Amino acid sequence: MSLRIGIIVGSTRPGRAGKDVAEWYHAKVTETPDVEYEIVDLAEFGLPLLDEAMPAAMGQYQNEHTKAWAEKIASFDGYVWVTPEYNHSAPASLTNAISFIFNEWGRKPVAMVSYGSMGGVRAAEHLRAIAGELEMADIRLQVAIRSPWAMKDENGNIIEDLVSGNPNDQMQQLVWWAQALKTARENA
Ligand SMILES: Cc1cc2nc3c(=O)[nH]c(=O)nc-3n(C[C@H](O)[C@H](O)[C@H](O)COP(=O)(O)O)c2cc1C
Repeated sequence: MSLRIGIIVGSTRPGRAGKDVAEWYHAKVTETPDVEYEIVDLAEFGLPLLDEAMPAAMGQYQNEHTKAWAEKIASFDGYVWVTPEYNHSAPASLTNAISFIFNEWGRKPVAMVSYGSMGGVRAAEHLRAIAGELEMADIRLQVAIRSPWAMKDENGNIIEDLVSGNPNDQMQQLVWWAQALKTARENA
């Protein structure tokens, strides 16, 4: 079964580390067979602060930017949320984008790739609580990168001593859940 996994870059500011982290992770996990990966850059969607009148769970999206975002997210069987830690939590750019839609996330798995002075683990824990409300299955294994401002060597490569967790081990768990839940959704 072919699966589609979206690797979502959660930060949007100029000069962010998030895009590099997502590209590094993507390069690592392409060994996993039968999976199509896509990096989804929030900055390219240009979402404003949530401006839909109806709660997302009702699925009555009015704005073109919401419809485009919903269509993209609906096209995946599972997700990697690449998140920095801002003020001991996840960035507003990511939580705002998550809140725009609802059913598109549901009954699918999500894995956390976090970064920050302590690996961004507090952001990831907060996102796990959000994932629960969205009826997502959060993957136990985590990839965490310490000191993102110093994570690249002189050649621009991520210094792997700063990384905890193995992207391929995490992806294997994500793929297991993505496949199981895809089958369950199709049989529901
Ligand atoms: C608004 C803001 C708040 C931050 N708060 C934290 C924090 O609480 N803990 C931490 O480890 N790093 C914190 N940092 C540092 C970020 O983890 C680090 O700058 C990271 O590169 C930000 O991700 P980005 O470059 O993709 O935006 C903060 C950075 C910003 C911009």
